Amino acid sequence: MRCRPRHTRAAVLGAALLLAGCGAAPHKTAATSTATAGQPAPRCSGRPTIAETEGPYFKAGSPARTSLLQTGMRGTRLVLTGRVLTTRCAPVAGALLDFWQADASGSYDNSGYRLRGHQLTDAGGRFRLTTVVPGEYPGRTQHIHVKVRAPGKPELTTQLYLPGEPGNEQDAIFDPSLLMQVRDAGSGKVATFDFVLG
Ligand SMILES: [Fe+2]
Repeated sequence: MRCRPRHTRAAVLGAALLLAGCGAAPHKTAATSTATAGQPAPRCSGRPTIAETEGPYFKAGSPARTSLLQTGMRGTRLVLTGRVLTTRCAPVAGALLDFWQADASGSYDNSGYRLRGHQLTDAGGRFRLTTVVPGEYPGRTQHIHVKVRAPGKPELTTQLYLPGEPGNEQDAIFDPSLLMQVRDAGSGKVATFDFVLG
């Protein structure tokens, strides 16, 4: 069964309480990167990527895969590339990234693993995720959840956002340091984001 938050007042209040119960960490960062997928290359600031709430829909045991696309899946295709870096801007090879997100309608799959998957960075610390642009759901702007694990580093749980979305400013968890760089590419979008592990 897939879980889609209901658009009732009670559901919105419930969502607000959930969000209030797991608010974003207040510290800021500016994760930045190298060129990937034809995107411009922001510099690495070396400041750790901020942590944000895991939220209610994380599910352990996601499959290893770099594409979350499945036959019949609706939505705008999104290819996200980037790197996992140290605070000295060195690449972290073999870091595990575990992604999960809502579908284009704002629904999470809480019984299976639709739009959930993990992968490891390559020798250059790089990753590549093919997915769809997530939809909004009550109380939340569009976002992609991720956990990043690397040996000798504390686990990072955070969320990524799309620039220019009207919902960003209404979302109490949204943080501009977690914006992906996004541009249109054909009928889809390409995005970049580098994680810096503290
Ligand atoms: Fe979420």
